[in-house]
Amino acid sequence: MKGLILSGGKGTRLRPITHTSAKQLVPIANKPILFYAVEAIVAAGIDEIGIITGDTGAEVEAAVGDGSRFGARVTYIAQDAPRGLAHAVLCAREFLAGEPFVMYLGDNLIRHGIVPIVEGFTETQPDALILLARVPEPQHFGVAELIEGKVVRLVEKPAKPTSDLALVGVYLFNHTVFEAIDAIDYSARGELEITDAIQRMIDTGRRVDPHLIVEPHQALVATWKDTGRLEDMLEANRIVLDDLAPRMEGTIGEGVRMHGKVIVERGAQLTNCTVRGPAIIGENTVIDDAYIGPYTSIYYGCTVRNAELEHSIVLENSVIENVEGKIESSLIGKECLIGRSPLRPRAYKLMVGDHSRVELR
Ligand code: DAU
Repeated sequence: MKGLILSGGKGTRLRPITHTSAKQLVPIANKPILFYAVEAIVAAGIDEIGIITGDTGAEVEAAVGDGSRFGARVTYIAQDAPRGLAHAVLCAREFLAGEPFVMYLGDNLIRHGIVPIVEGFTETQPDALILLARVPEPQHFGVAELIEGKVVRLVEKPAKPTSDLALVGVYLFNHTVFEAIDAIDYSARGELEITDAIQRMIDTGRRVDPHLIVEPHQALVATWKDTGRLEDMLEANRIVLDDLAPRMEGTIGEGVRMHGKVIVERGAQLTNCTVRGPAIIGENTVIDDAYIGPYTSIYYGCTVRNAELEHSIVLENSVIENVEGKIESSLIGKECLIGRSPLRPRAYKLMVGDHSRVELR
């Protein structure tokens, strides 16, 4: 069996965070979301992985490399434009070479991985296995209708959904999916839709089995990504942090108090601070004279000094210094500086990128 991860597309949806980078590389609990996909596939015993790339291909390749550090062999497959999920599968035809495969959307995150799902597929051998989760806003997804446990209809982003069962971004197929893709046309939004290909499989008598994800938080993590809403990112961060085991690889200096599950990555330095987990402090990050509260992820190369931070995500190489009052429920981008100016007038002085949001007291 092979793995196919879709990491193409334009990456504009998580603005401003992905103005400059692939949305699949946005970190959740200090790890690019795409890495969770690679790890989940490897954990399911699949080590031949193709990654579909688009505009941000160079960045994706630089991040994942040849796959050896994940225990996988990664082949990059360029897609000239985001022409749809089924089009991406066509691009991988040669790589897949008729083998069954798991297709994993690189911006999805499935809590607890896919091991039993891949095992189930291998044992029962349907032509396709689709993952479904109940979501509050199904109109943003492919939506499935089941009758007596059988998939009868799939519609991509229907204006009026007939069920709350959304397609989650992991699909398992055997080679018959190619016949179906070859037979479908581009949709109204100009994409070759995998949803239409699966419907075609159903219509031509292929066996398409559903796998319902029942644990509500699992579905939440799977659905955070498309909206690019801060709240969804914070929620995904919160859920993933809850699952992590504490780890201490940095340096703990004087006056440090830690409570709960705290992960301190390599080269991080903590002094005179309180860290209340679940929280993760990234590589070579300095925390000094500070409070880091629950559900906070601070990525690598950051400095937090004389500041208080809680329930927030800070991306790489940012500096937060001398801030009065606690920062909470915030997403701070890469290489940002949040500080206090010694110069008068004592005013708020902001340089805030497009589509940013600042809420002041
Ligand atoms: O997340 C689940 C949803 O994913 C499903 O419910 C929908 O049925 C399915 O169509 C898909 O919908 P999205 O509109 O959210 O897909 P999106 O365009 O965001 O693409 C998903 C991933 O696949 C993303 O990592 C980018 C990548 N991609 C996308 C397209 C259209 C490609 O690599 N190539 C493509 O051509």
